[in-house]
Amino acid sequence: MKSEHLLALIGLVLAVLVVAGCAGAKTTRKAADKRGLAYGTAIQPGDILWPESAQLLAQDFNTLVPENVMKWGLLRPTKTFWNWSDLDKMVDFAEKNGMKMRGHTFVWHSQNPPYVNSLKTRDEAIALMTEQITEVMTRYKGRIAEYDVANEVVADNGTMRDTVWLKAIGSDYLDIAFRTARAADPAAKLILNDYSNEYAGDVKADAFYNLAKDLKERGVPIDGVGFQLHIEAQWPVRKDALVANIRRFAELGLAVSFTEVDVRIKMPVTPEKEAEQVRAYRDLLDAALGEPNVKSFILWGYTDKQSWVPSFFGGYGSALIYDTELKPKAAYRAILQRLLAK
Ligand code: G3I
Repeated sequence: MKSEHLLALIGLVLAVLVVAGCAGAKTTRKAADKRGLAYGTAIQPGDILWPESAQLLAQDFNTLVPENVMKWGLLRPTKTFWNWSDLDKMVDFAEKNGMKMRGHTFVWHSQNPPYVNSLKTRDEAIALMTEQITEVMTRYKGRIAEYDVANEVVADNGTMRDTVWLKAIGSDYLDIAFRTARAADPAAKLILNDYSNEYAGDVKADAFYNLAKDLKERGVPIDGVGFQLHIEAQWPVRKDALVANIRRFAELGLAVSFTEVDVRIKMPVTPEKEAEQVRAYRDLLDAALGEPNVKSFILWGYTDKQSWVPSFFGGYGSALIYDTELKPKAAYRAILQRLLAK
């Protein structure tokens, strides 16, 4: 064989090996896809613009959530001005990369503009709330798979949170929100999302469960509940209470999404604290993978470069799975390993 033919043959063999190697590459995204798990992260507008983070997102996650830009105050700062551009770009990016989107969020007490916070009459509040839901869900019909229709409606003591929606509309405001969402995009999954609602037996978690049960039993179109799961590394995950809670939602016919997972560490990070964090991420993922009605495992951000944690919890940080340079941390490796495990 002539030497140039031999070289061409070697080149071909190498190319085949590279392609085969890539196809078998073990990424969190591929492993989650195989399991049918929505594995994702909240993102900010810049994340899909910087090549390095855009590439990381498309490689490692199959689902994206806007961390802030779908919230009322940012999306519609005045009644007549809709700030679509960041959200449009995120939905386009997800679509181009074959990823799913979650929507976050419509009915909330926080980050609302003044014209929402000052609503007084039932009619005005219903008109504005239903307009918001319908406008967004019609625009992205078929392109956003799941929405946090309502967020944090239960107070820490288990009563209904005293929000502008409850005050202006009355106790049927959730019925109206979910019915409006179902009508706007019948294929989208509709979620009631909250924090500190993950452990059966806790006051707020039980109240949240009773609320979801009541909605479901009265025929309000709710598909599932969201556990935010902003947790602290030093408090081990109470797996029994978590699984018991997931199962009682399954019995109601409701899916559970883990919607905003992060595991904060009291700084400074030590090897022991990082080991606690790894265990917490692994335990949460274990619970999700072990229960068929858990469909999503979404992180509240991916890089420690831009997490909400340090500014909200003084002295805490390092809550995510890639460091400030976008390098994978031990928690990332634990997640990958658990996703790949038999
Ligand atoms: O948009 C304004 C900008 O105009 C202004 O110049 C700047 C200066 O303060 O603030 C910008 O708004 C900030 C917004 O994020 C968007 O970047 C707010 O101050 C800041 O408080 C806000 O924080 C977000 C927080 O929700 C409140 O909406 C966090 O990034 C976000 O991670 C956090 O996410 C929430 C979930 O939605 C619900 N569950 C809890 C979770 C953590 O708090």
